[in-house]
Amino acid sequence: MSDIPLAPWRSPLARALHRNRSLVYARYVQLATVRSDGRPANRTVVFRGFLELTNQLKFIADTRSQKIDQIWVQPWGEVCWYFPKTREQFRLLGTLEAVAAEHPNHALLQARRNLWRELSDAARVQFAWAEPGIARSETVASETVAIEISPPDAAEPLPNFCLLLLNPTQVDHLELRGDPQNRYFYSKDSEAGREAWAVQTINP
Ligand SMILES: Cc1cc2nc3c(=O)[nH]c(=O)nc-3n(C[C@H](O)[C@H](O)[C@H](O)COP(=O)(O)O)c2cc1C
Repeated sequence: MSDIPLAPWRSPLARALHRNRSLVYARYVQLATVRSDGRPANRTVVFRGFLELTNQLKFIADTRSQKIDQIWVQPWGEVCWYFPKTREQFRLLGTLEAVAAEHPNHALLQARRNLWRELSDAARVQFAWAEPGIARSETVASETVAIEISPPDAAEPLPNFCLLLLNPTQVDHLELRGDPQNRYFYSKDSEAGREAWAVQTINP
């Protein structure tokens, strides 16, 4: 993890997060990926902050879930994020990286461990549930069985716990407030060794 300057879209996003902080669902975003047949896949995930000293967004996922299979084949993904109080949308396009137990980067493994430790027992226990997305068996479906799963070790993540990182390359910010509306397009300059961003005001 190298120390890079905050991207220019970070301050409007931080402002939106702050002004919508009373709404728990303002931290829920829609994350789209691409299936191996080229069709889109989309789901809600919880924004878990930024990876320290980077512009990468953190999420958590189960390595057994379909999104992880999808990003091994096609790492592009897009987050669509609406803030109801301030009536603005951010769309963040970038590449996704899954940091699972066997990841070679120690700093990322530590970030994965830290995130696991920050979770509630209720969030951690979901990773001890039966394999997501497959047919539910009679036993697993019974509520008593679900309740009987004891919370996993709070210090060490279960092997299927995954830190999911989105490294944005384009950000499209639309403000509905205002007449006319405002729209800003940020793009990362990949030519320039260090992260460099261009910003343009575009028609809404
Ligand atoms: C409010 C809400 C928050 C969710 N948060 C997460 C999350 O943080 N991580 C996650 O993997 N799934 C989360 N889910 C479940 C996903 O939307 C999805 O059903 C699941 O991850 C399986 O997706 P996949 O089969 O496309 O991998 C959440 C669902 C809802 C409704």
